[in-house]
Amino acid sequence: MDQQGMKEAVALAALEWVKALPSDSVVLGIGTGSTAECFIRLLPSIKGRIDITVSSSQRSEALLEELQIPVGDLNSVGELDAYVDGADEANQQLQLIKGGGAALTREKIVAAAAKRFLCIADASKKVATLGAFPLPVEVIPMARSFVARELVKLGGQPIWRDGLVTDNGNVILDVHGLSIDRALETEAAIDHITGVVCSGLFARRPADVLMLGTPQGVETLVAG
Ligand code: 5RP
Repeated sequence: MDQQGMKEAVALAALEWVKALPSDSVVLGIGTGSTAECFIRLLPSIKGRIDITVSSSQRSEALLEELQIPVGDLNSVGELDAYVDGADEANQQLQLIKGGGAALTREKIVAAAAKRFLCIADASKKVATLGAFPLPVEVIPMARSFVARELVKLGGQPIWRDGLVTDNGNVILDVHGLSIDRALETEAAIDHITGVVCSGLFARRPADVLMLGTPQGVETLVAG
């Protein structure tokens, strides 16, 4: 099975997981990226079970609207039953690196507001140690150089994703060269840099369930 086939298989498994949630009318957080998009394209089949969705990006919101799935504002919907999203890396503790698609801040907000967080990915995303994928950090534009110098002090090599403006009007620094074996501490240290909006490290709020598409089928890991 190729990588696209694995993404589609894991999206289908996520759909079954949503169908099994103990709610007749689900308030669902929706992620961003190609795996999340496979999942979104399946949602019309369970439209009757969805009360409302909350999207983590303008891109996913546009697709949801195209498919006539109702999309709401997080400020009006309260707690979400679940959030389904992809990841760039996931470790055994279900801590993640996210933000390859630059949606990390809204993704972290939606994940924080959700009772359950299901992460879906192809098996190539599972790693022993986070950090081979450059860690995205969303930054207030005027703080870019200052934050970059502070990230160097933490041992990283930040590269500005030049030309990219996030949905929140900010910029992204991709931090190379980190080997993140203490993810909670690293997340806190980056959060404490003035000018940082958010890092793509999901350690304080890891996934609750990780579904990995493998050539042999979907493997499910549950937070211990
Ligand atoms: C977007 C993300 C995505 O979930 C992550 O980049 C994975 O994307 P894909 O499913 O296309 O590999 O965090 O900000």
